[in-house]
This record gives sequence, C-alpha cells and structure tokens, in this order.
Amino acid sequence: MSTWLSHKLPTVDPSQVPDVKAITEQLTQEFDIPTDHLKKIVAQFQEEMQKGLDREGATVAMIPSFVTGRPTGDEKGKYLALDLGGTNLRVCQFELLGQGEYKVHQQKYVVSDELKTGEMRHLCDFIADCVDNFVTENGSNNVDSNLQLGFTFSFPVLQTDINRGTLMHWTKGFKCTGAVDKDVVVLLQDAFLRKNLNVHIAAIVNDTVGTLMAHAYKYPETSMGVILGTGTNACYYEKLTGIKKWKGGDTVFEEMVVNMEWGAFDNERRVLPLTIYDNKLDRESINPGEQMFEKMISGMYLGEIARNTILMLVDRLLLFKGDSSHDLNTQWRFETAYMSTIGEDTSADLKDTKHVLEEILQIPSTTKEDRQIVKHICFLVGQRAARLAACGIASVLQHTGESEKKSVVAIDGSVYEFYPDFEQMMTTALKELFGDDIVNRVKFDLARDGSGFGAAMVAMMSHKASQVKQSTSA
Ligand code: GLC
Repeated sequence: MSTWLSHKLPTVDPSQVPDVKAITEQLTQEFDIPTDHLKKIVAQFQEEMQKGLDREGATVAMIPSFVTGRPTGDEKGKYLALDLGGTNLRVCQFELLGQGEYKVHQQKYVVSDELKTGEMRHLCDFIADCVDNFVTENGSNNVDSNLQLGFTFSFPVLQTDINRGTLMHWTKGFKCTGAVDKDVVVLLQDAFLRKNLNVHIAAIVNDTVGTLMAHAYKYPETSMGVILGTGTNACYYEKLTGIKKWKGGDTVFEEMVVNMEWGAFDNERRVLPLTIYDNKLDRESINPGEQMFEKMISGMYLGEIARNTILMLVDRLLLFKGDSSHDLNTQWRFETAYMSTIGEDTSADLKDTKHVLEEILQIPSTTKEDRQIVKHICFLVGQRAARLAACGIASVLQHTGESEKKSVVAIDGSVYEFYPDFEQMMTTALKELFGDDIVNRVKFDLARDGSGFGAAMVAMMSHKASQVKQSTSA
C-alpha cells in the first residue's frame, strides 16, 4: 500500500536542477488510465447501474425522476425556475414560445458559506426572499393565478412524485441541518407561505434532468443529460420495465428519465484508480468515503488534487526549491479555474502560469521547469477526469444500446465548457472503448445553462397534467 512516506518519487539533490523528465514520467504513470482499465471501469459501472435499477439503497442510486415523455418543442407559457446547487442561486422566468424558442429574464444571487452549512430554514427563507425580490422586480406577481415554479435542486433527492422528494444526503460542500430525510419541496413551499408568496412548486428537478429536457426541446434526439461542473452526474431515458424497483404504479408512458447520481460510483473503491493525492483530498473533505467518482472529475475537486500533487513535489524539493506559500498550503485555494488558465498557456516562458503561481498564490519564485511541471500536473489531472467522465457516458450508451444509434448527449458545466481540450479527451477515450466510428453516431453538445429552462418546462408539463386530472375528475 502506498503511503506518503513510502511513495517512490525520484529524489534529487536540492542544489541540482530537478530531473523534469523523470518527474513527469512518474506522474504520467500515476494518473494514466490505460484502455484496458477504462473497460474494467465501464464493466463495473454497468453492474452498479443494474443494482441501482433493481433495488433501493444501491451506491449508484438510479432515482426515477417522475419525468415521462419527451418535449415536443411546441410547449408554450410563462414559468418560473429556481436553480440551486452550483456556485450561485439563479431565479429565472421563462416564456416558452414554441418551435424550440424561448425568452428568459434571470437574476443570480450568491449563497454564502454560512447559508450552505447553517440551518435549512434559513436557506429556504433566503431563497424565498430572492424569489420575492425577483417577481417584484419583474412584475411577474401581477398575474392573478399563482405562479408555477420548477425547482432545480441539484442534490440526491429520492422522489416520490414530480414535486415531492426527500433529500438523501448533501454533496458539493452543502451541509445544512434539518434537511436530510425531509421533503425539500415542503420546506421551501412553507418558506414561500411564510412570506405570502403566491408561487407553487410544480416540479423538483435534478440539474441533469433539466439539462436533458432543455436540450430535447430543441433537439429531440437527445438521450442523455450530463453535468461536468462543480459536481458531476447524469440522467437518461430508461424503459419503465427496466426499473425493477419502480413502485409508482402504471403510467401511460413506457420510459422515464432516471437521475443516476453517478458521483457516488465506486465509493467501494473497486476500480477507480485512486492515488495518494485523491486519498488525501477525500480524507480532508466534509464527506470522506462519499462521491468518490465526483471527487476525481468535477470542478470542486480537480484544483485540490493538483494542489496535493504540487505540494508533494515541493516537500521532495522537486518544485520551487522546496518553498511553498500560505496560499498554496491552504485547502481548496488552488482553484480548478487556474488549471484552465495554465492549460491554455502556450507562451514561451509560461507567463500566465507564472502569474497564477507567483502573483495569485504568492510563491516566492518559480523557474520555467517548475512551471512546466505544474502545467503537466494540471494536464494529467484534467485528462484523467475526462477519461473517467467518458467511462460514465459509455456505460449508459452501452446499457441503452444508444452506442449503436445516432444520439446526442447534452452536457453542461464549467469543466466541460472551460477546461482545455476536455471534450476532445473524452472523445479519445470513447473511441478507445467503442472504436473510431463512434463519433459518427454519438455527438456531445454543450447545453449551457439548460437546467433552469428544463425545470421550467417540467413545471409546465406537470401543471398541465394536473389541470387535465382536475378537469376529468370534476
Ligand atoms: C452532485 C449532486 C447531483 C448533481 C451533481 C451536478 O453530484 O449530488 O444531484 O446532479 O452534483 O450538479
């Protein structure tokens, strides 16, 4: 077993220039996932998906979303959406115009760390205030009937209906008390009531589901929604007969969107190629042993893996002459966004990398070799994330048979959008798994900010369905 002490890295005399080649080769090996191993991961993934579809309580939860049917693109009307789970809280009003078109007004609000880790009641009151402020400013509250809202809540919620569901556990740095095992829709609706807000939560939607629905509104062949942002997760259309644990009764629809919660894949550590840098991150996180797949892929964590790796080399006197800085020594301080800047730095002496290291992170001085090593570390951590994300997508495509057909995977999130070459590295892995011609069948599409719009659309579908129910039972 590797430990910090026994882990073998080339050591050098501090008076000598580090052997850049030897260091980079060693790290390359540690972060590499060869094709055979990708295949092993996909095989394990499929097993875990099946367990999740068959029974409650599996590691990959495979949660039925109660979203059935596909949008036609002709949906119309005005709906509100609320998006909680990424960096900001967003409140939006969408006007669906038909033919895949819509208009939107939106406002972002910062959620402080105190709110993320305090009492759920305070978070709900804050959200209610934001919605109140938004509808007042946009004049949306002039409408007689109450406003319908789609709530994108990007955490594992065990749904019992389209607008009902209990929070299983928090992820991504949230840890409010008084929310786990509670119905989050009831908690938020109560906060609206306390403020006399005439807003009805018509649907609770995971961000992956929102992304899928939003993209399918314009491109009906979309089969999967993926988030590669602060966290990572995916959803896809599953046949109802394939969800053995389904107890929700008959529906006229043959398929339902399943929110996989794939961030928890392999919490058992069977196949994930974890390094000492990952273990350190996990041990020091607020949810050790949980979300292991997410911790190797998503934006909340990639910077920290890179920081751990850099510090290991500093301690071995292989970087910055052994000097660190207060910033570099601080947990989470090396942001994933810096990795994108460094990845894109093609200047001869790596000046943007120098800026990040010396100006932002206050490292006293760096050599060009230092900067090359840091750039290589960022590349390796990003490449491994892209290859793992591709394994998740490949597992779903194989499970549904979509890898044999033409299909579109809608992807949103900062890692996918901004990390240099992320999409290309995912495609390379997909080709290793399925052969080069997979690119003629499966297409990745950036679905920027789709989750709020998707939630508004699900709210509309749910509201229309409840109106039909009311009129037929009247
Ligand atoms: C975390 C959440 C999940 C969400 C994902 C992306 O994994 O548990 O619900 O979809 O982050 O935001």
